[in-house]
Amino acid sequence: MTETEQTYAEIRDAYAARRPESRAAYARARRWLPGGETRSVTHYGPFPAAILRGHGATLTDADGLEYVDLVNNYTSLVHGNAHPRLVEAIRSTVGEGSAFAAVHPTQLDLAEEIAERVESIELVRLTNSGSEASALAARIARHATGRRTLIVATGGYHGGVPPFSDADEPDVVQVPYGDDAALEAALTPDVAAVFLEPFLGAGGVVPAPEGYLAAAQLAAHRVGALFVLDEVQALRNHPRGTQGALGLSPDLTLMAKIIGGGLAIGAVGGRSGLLELTAATRPGHLSHAGTFNGHVAAAAAGFESLRLLDAEAIATLNARAEVLAAAVAREAATAGTSAVMTRAGSILNLHPVVDGETVTDTNAHGQWRSALHLALMDLGIYTTPRGMINLSTALTDADLSRVADAYAEALTKVGPAA
Ligand SMILES: Cc1ncc(COP(=O)(O)O)c(C=O)c1O
Repeated sequence: MTETEQTYAEIRDAYAARRPESRAAYARARRWLPGGETRSVTHYGPFPAAILRGHGATLTDADGLEYVDLVNNYTSLVHGNAHPRLVEAIRSTVGEGSAFAAVHPTQLDLAEEIAERVESIELVRLTNSGSEASALAARIARHATGRRTLIVATGGYHGGVPPFSDADEPDVVQVPYGDDAALEAALTPDVAAVFLEPFLGAGGVVPAPEGYLAAAQLAAHRVGALFVLDEVQALRNHPRGTQGALGLSPDLTLMAKIIGGGLAIGAVGGRSGLLELTAATRPGHLSHAGTFNGHVAAAAAGFESLRLLDAEAIATLNARAEVLAAAVAREAATAGTSAVMTRAGSILNLHPVVDGETVTDTNAHGQWRSALHLALMDLGIYTTPRGMINLSTALTDADLSRVADAYAEALTKVGPAA
């Protein structure tokens, strides 16, 4: 065993030794759920901590261990866990009935709030998830243009259902993110739409090069294709969405996560001419089914979540994230471990620097990422295994300085990525 392997094994053993209840919960989960989970990204070795409760920025696991929550259900809990106003919105809505086969005022409140924030959005269609929103946008784009091909970025993520779930989906072409020339070359006359995130989110929190998104929008329009901006993660970063900050005007916008206030939701917003294609009033309309589309409690909580996330809250989140990224970079340098936090607004990802290069491919240096993740967990900091973290309004400055200290300690323990 090399010294590095020895260190990683010690970190794993220390993690496992303190978590007998989580280990038992994992054994039970494996009996009933394939692989002991029902959402691939929630698995990590040796076994995941069984989280039982969350209040504000604090999570508690089955062994009674507490964590500062920097996962926030993968960027959906922008106000942390069980925010009293969101809990009250859910409780009061569900107390009057949880789901009706009818349009409900909470859906209208949410749609209106979204359309008021994001200038390009004239009409809104609600779904149960961002994945469903992406799938619906693909259908709208294909229906509107009579074309099949969709362009996405390599490393881009638009959800876990077709046509975006697998790398080899038919009629989906990948181009390197940030590469104007590659996009231009892929824009054949059969392209229905270009789907891009304002930054690669699941792909390692990699910001777009300056001007890339505006050029992509222009290029798509030049060949009669739609420009679809996936703001599922990015919406939180600017009061008018990332598109507002960059002066973009996408034909369709994808949203989810923060617009559900902690519950399951998704939405497609955009130009009325496109969204109207789904209107039931229209002969031959594009039917959009879904028993729980725009669930009343999710819509109610999402409306409150957006109202709480005003320009001041967003500015504070982004400023704190900037301070944290700088602090971690400093600590990493002091620890003699080259690591960098990439950042888009209040979403960040720690990456190793190897041979002077920041390795943003989150599949690379898996053991280093995993050791760091478990070391941070053992210091009471809950991060994602791939290194992505994000801030909530529930975090205090004291929480964040504790987080920076924990990164220093964990980086020192784990050492540099080989
Ligand atoms: C940019 C982006 N688009 C779409 C999705 C899919 O959203 P959901 O998980 O709600 O289906 C995600 C989820 O992480 C995402 O990050």
